[in-house]
Amino acid sequence: MLDRLRRALGSSIGSKALMACTGLLLIGFLIAHLAGNLLLYADSEGRAFDAYASTLENSPLLPAAEAGLALLFCVHIVLAVRVQRANREARDVAYRARSSHGARTPGSATMVATGVIVLLFLLAHLYDFRINRPDGDSLALIVRERLASPSGLAVYSIGVAALGLHLTHALRSALQTLGLHRPGYEGLIDKASLLLGIVLGLAFWSFPLVFFLGGAA
Ligand code: HEM
Repeated sequence: MLDRLRRALGSSIGSKALMACTGLLLIGFLIAHLAGNLLLYADSEGRAFDAYASTLENSPLLPAAEAGLALLFCVHIVLAVRVQRANREARDVAYRARSSHGARTPGSATMVATGVIVLLFLLAHLYDFRINRPDGDSLALIVRERLASPSGLAVYSIGVAALGLHLTHALRSALQTLGLHRPGYEGLIDKASLLLGIVLGLAFWSFPLVFFLGGAA
């Protein structure tokens, strides 16, 4: 049983399936993260967001949730590199054609580039709010000040633009890999994937835009 699982994950199809599952779970994280971040707009002192952040930070489940999240990102990235390498090495043109799901779109053509940019953004983002964070200060104020700066606007705009473009292809690719699309529904799935990328990209972009244009206070 364990051997079969190991063999399945070692195969190209198994890697792609696990990459699709981790990608879908990461989309779930992004939606939850966005919902929490929207509390930044609830009041001008950032009280609602700070209360939410302190509830999360005091939760006994946080270490396990963070470890799970880190594992999801790591597995997704390692498998993306492996699948990308296998695609490049595959000399069989037919295999290559099959491996890019559906019609080529700006999202599908730039998956590797946008994935790398999102990874770099994530490292900068964790440095901003997890590593380089003064103790005791209001997290809402720290976020507002960072996003209100020109470098914050630049880093967060580029990062979330890449994320949005990545997501325009992500859902359709994951559902196709997992065989969850049904004949006749491809158009709908393509549109849902496009919409997801645009809505999440614009919603995340609203934070640097609003705080840069409105100032941190
Ligand atoms: C652009 C708007 C965003 C804002 C304002 C924002 C804000 C924050 C803040 C304040 C934290 C620290 C939370 C805490 O310590 O309690 C955080 C953590 C995090 N953010 Fe974001 N974020 C944004 C976008 C993103 C995006 C696009 C991603 C994914 C690509 C992301 C991934 C993460 C991750 C993985 C963590 C660490 C979670 C943890 O360890 O608990 N964020 N974010």
